[in-house]
Amino acid sequence: MQTVTITSIREEIPGVKTFTIAGEDGAPIPYTAGQFVTFVFNHHDKEERRSFSISTSPVHDESLSFTVKRIDNGAYSRLLTDRAAVGDKLYTSGAAGLFTLPADTSRYRQFLFFAAGIGITPIISLIKTILHTLPQKQVTLIYSNRSKEETVFYEELQRLLQKFPENFKVEFLYSTSFNLSRARLNKALLPVLLREYLVVPNDEVLVYVCGPFAYMRMVIWSLEEAGIPDDQIRKENFNTNDRQVHKVEPPDKGTHVATIKYNGGTYSFPVAYPDTILQAAKKNGLTLPYSCEVGRCGSCAARCTAGQVWLSYNEVLMDTDLKLGSILTCVGHPVNGDVTIEA
Ligand SMILES: Cc1cc2nc3c(=O)[nH]c(=O)nc-3n(C[C@H](O)[C@H](O)[C@H](O)COP(=O)(O)OP(=O)(O)OC[C@H]3O[C@@H](n4cnc5c(N)ncnc54)[C@H](O)[C@@H]3O)c2cc1C
Ligand code: FES
Repeated sequence: MQTVTITSIREEIPGVKTFTIAGEDGAPIPYTAGQFVTFVFNHHDKEERRSFSISTSPVHDESLSFTVKRIDNGAYSRLLTDRAAVGDKLYTSGAAGLFTLPADTSRYRQFLFFAAGIGITPIISLIKTILHTLPQKQVTLIYSNRSKEETVFYEELQRLLQKFPENFKVEFLYSTSFNLSRARLNKALLPVLLREYLVVPNDEVLVYVCGPFAYMRMVIWSLEEAGIPDDQIRKENFNTNDRQVHKVEPPDKGTHVATIKYNGGTYSFPVAYPDTILQAAKKNGLTLPYSCEVGRCGSCAARCTAGQVWLSYNEVLMDTDLKLGSILTCVGHPVNGDVTIEA
């Protein structure tokens, strides 16, 4: 955990503000394009966490900034957008998340982004990073909003379009548009846009999707229908409030010992079902990184180096991550014996 200071605040559109933060003595906070920062705060005497995607790119040493949309009745988004001021201190567990670029991008010749509303935040960070570091790649953004006036980063995207006319394309979609064939993104329009904008074979494109839940479900379904393999579609889910209990049970409900290597220390404790590894860690005084606690954000991602961890839910890890031993401690249970985890 660290305390950071707000160093600047900019209003993007009414109700949406970008906050730049710095660490102690103004030190920059390390981050990767596409990640988010999680803040910890007190609400009615209870510790709460909220995450915000980073909207800047580290390639030009841009200081870490995140962009917040005010939610009516929202506890933390209103605190930030209505009351936060330059100089205010925030408490954070730092940057995390897996909605990032792959280490090896050589397989992909095109990056295709689908964003709706405030879902643009991690995507603009990725777009700026690709345009400035991988100039040979094609970058396409399909960006849905109610209107041009409600489009966050409209001017910045126009500047990028002017700077990279050869390899950057944007389709702005406005749900209030009179041209109904190019208004709300739907199952009929998406294949039309793919025919227009997808300029490489299906196995050479990497797709990123971020927006409201129903939007993401429709986009992912349509992409799969169009033959884009599931492992080439990355998604970031902002709404983790649905804490619906997933009634799947592990194949083994026995108590097993988890040995966790974290921050230079090694900690061992029993994990007894129904506790997850994260819950057992908390009970034993070890606070590991986390945010949503429901397998949807990736904050708690860790690596299992010995034994077997069973996940009750997983919206973030891909098959390739799982094969490399990645797990989520918030939904992870040790099964068939003890486990060793690097967090
Ligand atoms: C990985 C990740 C990245 C995120 N990045 C961003 C970001 O870049 N910018 C940003 O503005 N937000 C982002 N969010 C959402 C953010 O973390 C908060 O959930 C959001 O700001 C609402 O928090 P709150 O405390 O104001 O509302 P709460 O007090 O938690 O909720 C108040 C009401 O709003 C509803 N609600 C909560 N969250 C949402 C939501 N996302 N959309 C619509 N209704 C909601 C609740 O159901 C409730 O009725 C991200 C979330 C995650 C998990
Ligand atoms: S804390 Fe969000 S996936 Fe585990």
